[in-house]
Amino acid sequence: MKDRSNNAADPEGGRFSRRKLFGAGAAGGLGVALASGMVPGTPDVAVDAAAAAGVVPYFGDHQSGVATKAQQGLEFAAFDVVGTERSTVAELMQTWSQAAARMCRGYPVAELDDDLLAPPADSGEALDSGAANLTVTFGFGPSLFVLDGEDRFGLAHHMPAALQPLPAFAGDAIEAAFAGGDVGVQVCADDPLVAFHAIHNLVRLADGAAEVRWSQTGFARTSSTRRQQVTPRNVMGFKDGTINVHGNDPVAMANHVWAGSEGPSWMSGGTYMVARRIRILLEAWDRSSLGDQQQTIGRQKYSGAPLSGTNEFDPLDLTALDPSGRPLIPADSHVRLASAAVNGGAQLLRRGYSYYEGIDQFGELDAGLFFICYQRDPRRQFVPIQRRLASSDALNQYVRHVGSAVFACPPGASRGGWVGRGLLGTFG
Ligand code: HEM
Repeated sequence: MKDRSNNAADPEGGRFSRRKLFGAGAAGGLGVALASGMVPGTPDVAVDAAAAAGVVPYFGDHQSGVATKAQQGLEFAAFDVVGTERSTVAELMQTWSQAAARMCRGYPVAELDDDLLAPPADSGEALDSGAANLTVTFGFGPSLFVLDGEDRFGLAHHMPAALQPLPAFAGDAIEAAFAGGDVGVQVCADDPLVAFHAIHNLVRLADGAAEVRWSQTGFARTSSTRRQQVTPRNVMGFKDGTINVHGNDPVAMANHVWAGSEGPSWMSGGTYMVARRIRILLEAWDRSSLGDQQQTIGRQKYSGAPLSGTNEFDPLDLTALDPSGRPLIPADSHVRLASAAVNGGAQLLRRGYSYYEGIDQFGELDAGLFFICYQRDPRRQFVPIQRRLASSDALNQYVRHVGSAVFACPPGASRGGWVGRGLLGTFG
C-alpha cells in the first residue's frame, strides 16, 4: 500500500497547482498510523482558510456543517462498519478526517502523482471546482455502540444517554432501506459536483472498512441558518426555515444545539443529528386549494407571513382569532404544533434539503424533504416535537416519513487531530 500521508500544506490558499498535483504518490485505503493521534501532513486550514473564497474551516471546536450557513446541495450517507475491530473504526475516522480536511479546502483527497500503473489518488471530478463551501459532518449511530444487544466494539459504556434509537411515531412508514447506520456523514456544498466528489471519495476510502447502508442526495436547501440568508422554498412551494436556530447566534447554539457537560466528555461541544426522509405526496398537495394549503402550514404561501400577520418575520400570534372566534393559526397547523411555544421551549436547528428520485412505479413523483435537524438532546427536542406533529399535524395527510436515523456528532477536531478521537483515539 502506498503512503497517503504525503500531502503537505499548499501555500497557495486552497487552489490546485499543477506543481502540487504532480507531487509525490498517494493511494486509497486505510493506511494512516493511529499511534501518534495526529493526521500527518494535513493542511493547516485554520491559518488561511478565512482568506480563501469558498472555504469553510474544517478544524475547530465544533464540526462544520451545523452552524455553517446552509449550502445549496447535500449528499448524505449512512455507513455500516465491517467486522468487529475497534481499530477499524478509529482508522476509518482518521482517514476520513484527513480526506475531509483536504477536500474542504479544495484539495484532492491525497496528492496526485503520475504513476500510470496505479489508480489515481483522487477520482478527479472536482479538480477544477474549488471548495464550494464544502462541509463534511460525521456522526455515530446507536448501532456503533450496541447492535442487537451486542457490544461490537467495546464502546457500549461510552454511548451517550441522549443517543437512543428513535421511537416509532404514529403514521411512520419507515423502510429498512432508509434507516439507521453506524456512521452518518452529511456532506454539503454549493456545487453538487463538489458534494458528490466528497462522498464518492469517502466511500472509496472506506473500502474494506465500511459499506454504504443507504444514502440521499438533496438538491436545494430548505432552511436558513443565518437571518441574512433568504428563506428558500420547499417543493410544496412554501418558504421553509423562517423560524430556526441560527448558527451565528452563540447563545441559542449553546442552549439548543451544542452538547455541554451533561453527557460523556467525548461529546462535549458535539451535537445530535436526526435525519428523516419525508416523502411529500405532491399529487394530493397540488390538488388542494391555496386556502387549504395555507391552513395546513399556518402561513401564507407567497409571502411566508404567519396567518396572524402580514410579513414573513412577523411573530406567530397563537392567540389571534378570526371574526368567528377561531384561531387564525389553526389548532392543527404545522407551525403551531412545531413552535417552541407549545413544545416547552424546545427548538431545533433545521438544515434539511429537498429531494427528488424520479417517478415511482405508480407514475407519481418520488420527492420530498430530507429533514435534518441538530440539537443538544433528541429526547427533549426532536422526539416530543415529532410526537406532537405525528398525532395531530394537518400536514400528515400530505407527507409520509419513510427514512430515519439519529447520530451523535462529536465535537470538531483541532488542527492535526481527527473527528471522533475523543471516543476512539484512546484505544489506538
Ligand atoms: C415534509 C415535512 C415538512 C414540511 C414540508 C415542513 C414545512 C415547514 C414550513 C413551510 C414551515 C414554516 C416556515 C418556517 O418557520 O420554517 C415549517 C416550520 C417548522 N417546522 Fe416543519 N416541515 C416538515 C417537517 C417537520 C418536522 C419533521 C419537524 C420536527 C419534528 C418540523 C419542525 C418545524 C419547526 C420547529 C418549525 C418552526 C415552527 C415555528 O416556530 O414557527 N418540521 N415547516
